[in-house]
Amino acid sequence: MSFYDNNVLPHVINLVCGSTPILRQREKIVPQAEGRVLEVGMGSGINIPYYDTNKVEKVWGLEPSTGMRKKAQKRVDAAPFDLEWLDLPGEEIPLDDNSVDTIVLTYTLCTIPDWKAAVEQMRRVLRPGGKLLFSEHGKAPDAAIQVWQDRVNPIWMKLAGGCHLNRDIPVLLQEGGFKIKDLDTLYVPKTPKIAAFTFWGYAQ
Ligand SMILES: C[S@@+](CC[C@H](N)C(=O)[O-])C[C@H]1O[C@@H](n2cnc3c(N)ncnc32)[C@H](O)[C@@H]1O
Repeated sequence: MSFYDNNVLPHVINLVCGSTPILRQREKIVPQAEGRVLEVGMGSGINIPYYDTNKVEKVWGLEPSTGMRKKAQKRVDAAPFDLEWLDLPGEEIPLDDNSVDTIVLTYTLCTIPDWKAAVEQMRRVLRPGGKLLFSEHGKAPDAAIQVWQDRVNPIWMKLAGGCHLNRDIPVLLQEGGFKIKDLDTLYVPKTPKIAAFTFWGYAQ
């Protein structure tokens, strides 16, 4: 990983992903997690305070970036529940089949290089009836915004650690074997429209 990815990007991501509109999204999703939870791409750990400690038995925080794990460490140390790092990518989840009750996926599927392999891994570890809770930005419904998402994407990916602006998140989840059970969308406020269109809900 480059110096930028390890030492600069974690602070930028922590700032951007901690904006008020994004925190509102986290409030809608993370407290629903229950039982044995896998958070894919834990990043700087911004979701940690949003878990309902009465519902969560254990959380595995999967995060391949050393810089992100370092940035998260204070929040991890303060977590009021059993939290264990998994320092691997989503394409290589080191957990048993059907061993997880909830998967939390926030602002990560945009970035995972082999999204299909990762979604299939999530499906493998999630028990039947378990929930994959998601809030992810991606491909906007408006043609004019889509044009700009496609134009800006190559440079955005370089600056934002591989994040794609234009992934159709529900389609990716479905192609990886999930059924979308609940889906809402909005352009989150106070955010450039190319990065604002958000899908949230749950899949099984
Ligand atoms: C925009 S950040 C979001 C972090 C966190 N999920 C949040 O909601 O704040 C994207 C995260 O995906 C992580 N990531 C990158 N490649 C990944 C992969 N192959 N598998 C899992 N996570 C990955 C990055 O290191 C980064 O922490």
